[in-house]
Amino acid sequence: MPTLVIIGAQWGDEAKGKIVDVLGAEARYVVRYSGGNNAGHTVVVADEEFKFHLLPAAILHESTVSILGGGMVICPKGLLDELRRTQERRAALGRLLVSPAAHVVFPYHRLLDELEEEARGANKIGTTSRGIGPAYEDKVARIGIRMGEFVRPERFRRRFCEVLAVKNRLLRMFGHEPLEFDGIFEEYSGYARDLASYVEDTDRLLQDAVDAGDRVLFEGAQGTFLDLDSGTYPYVTSSHPTAGGACLGTGVGPRSIDSVLGVAKAYTTRVGSGPFPTEQDNGDGERIRQQGNEYGTTTGRGRRCGWLDLVALRQSCRLNSMSGLVLTRLDVLSGFERLPVAVGYALDGSRIDQLPTDIEDLARVEPVYETLDGWPDDLQGARTLDDLPRPARRYLEFIAEFTRTPIAILSIGPARDATIVLRPDLIWG
Ligand code: GDP
Ligand code: IMO
Ligand code: MG
Repeated sequence: MPTLVIIGAQWGDEAKGKIVDVLGAEARYVVRYSGGNNAGHTVVVADEEFKFHLLPAAILHESTVSILGGGMVICPKGLLDELRRTQERRAALGRLLVSPAAHVVFPYHRLLDELEEEARGANKIGTTSRGIGPAYEDKVARIGIRMGEFVRPERFRRRFCEVLAVKNRLLRMFGHEPLEFDGIFEEYSGYARDLASYVEDTDRLLQDAVDAGDRVLFEGAQGTFLDLDSGTYPYVTSSHPTAGGACLGTGVGPRSIDSVLGVAKAYTTRVGSGPFPTEQDNGDGERIRQQGNEYGTTTGRGRRCGWLDLVALRQSCRLNSMSGLVLTRLDVLSGFERLPVAVGYALDGSRIDQLPTDIEDLARVEPVYETLDGWPDDLQGARTLDDLPRPARRYLEFIAEFTRTPIAILSIGPARDATIVLRPDLIWG
């Protein structure tokens, strides 16, 4: 049963897209299981760059089947636009299927995302404004509209009528004018017609694939510390980006997962609000941002940058039961003379070795750093571990020892071939 989950081990944007594209070439099915178009997954092929928000990042491989799983929330317009744009650039793409259990994102979700953020004032989350939180709110409140009913015209009319009445009451409470049924219903019925042929029982398909021994790759979005339960609540997304989410969001059971790879940058970034213990709101952070071109794939916002937080990464390895790490963007650190990494936190005079659950405590921790040597060399040409300068190799060893997790893959540039596989045995279980 060769099944592999690829997740973000930090706060998102760890370069999951690149890794899913590289490993997806060997998979039969590539499945997104959580989130929606809040994600921005970059794939670089020769001198072309693709940014995927809803489409699985392995869609460029014609022989893979790309699946949008039931744990996702899908903006139909966003999906159709992205599909059209990608088809314009590549005539042949992998087949696409959409789970009938995935929820649909409607204009009222986007509107409420903005209104809720405004209402939070100084405590705003800094969401991607894609309506993700409100769409999951409807799912939990058991009034969401799922893809399966969206593509059945009569059913959609009835459900949309019901739900819009509720949403309009809410919009009025926020002081916003109600939305008109006719225009939105007509527009979205068009999207539903265009998407109907993609909707299929993907849970069943994946269960059969697992039984048949086909290779299935689960593509995480966001990152571990943006997880609704395991993340820095309330500064999180509204879904489950962690490895456990792969089961919840696809219908595949936990004992069918063979391998989990956690993608982590060689430093740390975060977009949006919330505590970030190793953040460097100074010249070092700015230098990482410039050297790494750390600007959001979805929103273009400058990412907050800081040193590698090994306390957080070790926790991430444990809670995702990671088989191995994929360390990315090591090249970005070239030129720093010294590289501090957090190996503990101090809180109220005591030393602690994991993230406090309480957000206000987390905001107060002081990282305890160990400082490693940097290297001046440009790493992008390296193709084996031996090509790396000694301090870079030491940096990797330190990470693996501290997190007690082997580094399975190393990425030293955006291109497919800027990838060094260290432990092939950890990839497909
Ligand atoms: P994702 O959301 O986890 O898929 O990551 P993003 O696509 O949002 O951001 C990762 C960025 O890093 C993209 O621009 C990638 O092209 C780029 N990238 C991927 N791997 C590497 C690497 O090893 N080094 C460098 N310098 N850039 C990389
Ligand atoms: P990928 O898959 C980084 C962050 C937002 C905000 C919080 C909640 O590209 O790694 P939401 O719109 O989901 O309600 O926003 O989560 N966020 C991400 N940060 N990468 C992402 O996706 C993210 N998706 C959401 O910035 O702080
Ligand atoms: Mg991203």
